Amino acid sequence: MRNADCGMENQEAYSAIRIPQSAIKEAGPTCGILLHKASDGLRYVSTTWYGKECPMIFEQIDAGGDRNFSYLIGDETTRLGAVVDPGYDTSKLQARVNALGLKVAYVLNTHTHHDHIAGNDVFHTGDVKLAAYKEAKVNPEIKLDHGAEIQVGSVTIKALFTPGHYLDSMCFLVGDKLITGDTLFVGCIGGSGFRGSSAEKQFHSLFDIILKLDDAIEVYPGHDYGEKPFSSVGYERANNPFLQRTNFDEFMWLKEHWEEYKAEHGIP
Ligand SMILES: [Fe+2]
Repeated sequence: MRNADCGMENQEAYSAIRIPQSAIKEAGPTCGILLHKASDGLRYVSTTWYGKECPMIFEQIDAGGDRNFSYLIGDETTRLGAVVDPGYDTSKLQARVNALGLKVAYVLNTHTHHDHIAGNDVFHTGDVKLAAYKEAKVNPEIKLDHGAEIQVGSVTIKALFTPGHYLDSMCFLVGDKLITGDTLFVGCIGGSGFRGSSAEKQFHSLFDIILKLDDAIEVYPGHDYGEKPFSSVGYERANNPFLQRTNFDEFMWLKEHWEEYKAEHGIP
């Protein structure tokens, strides 16, 4: 199922990846973003820089499906962790949890479309807590609302309620990184033509919540649909065609004419 306004085949994306200098500057000399494309397709972003200790673990992990991403958040000191959106393929996520020696304490869902919750049960066992929007159909033990925080050791995850793509869509802000689910992709946004969607609410979530964040905040989407696997609020503000439409009618026009727009502008 294509549940987005866009999805771009981009086999060459990884040759064009650039590490944001701002991220490295923020992280300091011994930390940074390390991005791999291993032979098995695993790629991840981590604040563990060549094995040296950093306070936060953050990895972007291939989750199968329609180029879905899962995320792994952890505290280097306590080794507590949280997994976000376990998908159809949890093998790489599980492998990274094991390799890092993390004890998963939370499963978080950005929203409850099936490709983002399909792997919940792999991790949601024992005393692991499931966290999602308070009215989400997965009946989370931790019922999140806008501004709620989850503590993973010394790492704080802040929940932002960003409905629109789906009625229970949330973004998660951890450090300088924003996990956007299907609300915002690199160069595109999630679709709103489904039951439980609202273009009006998505417009509000994008302009009045996400774009209120600092340009330096990095954007980590729920699918690898863009020209690169992650970007920043500033990059999206400047380059995402949907975010150029500050008038709702123009925003809707682009949603309804996206295929034409892509063809006209050479977007794959
Ligand atoms: Fe979705």
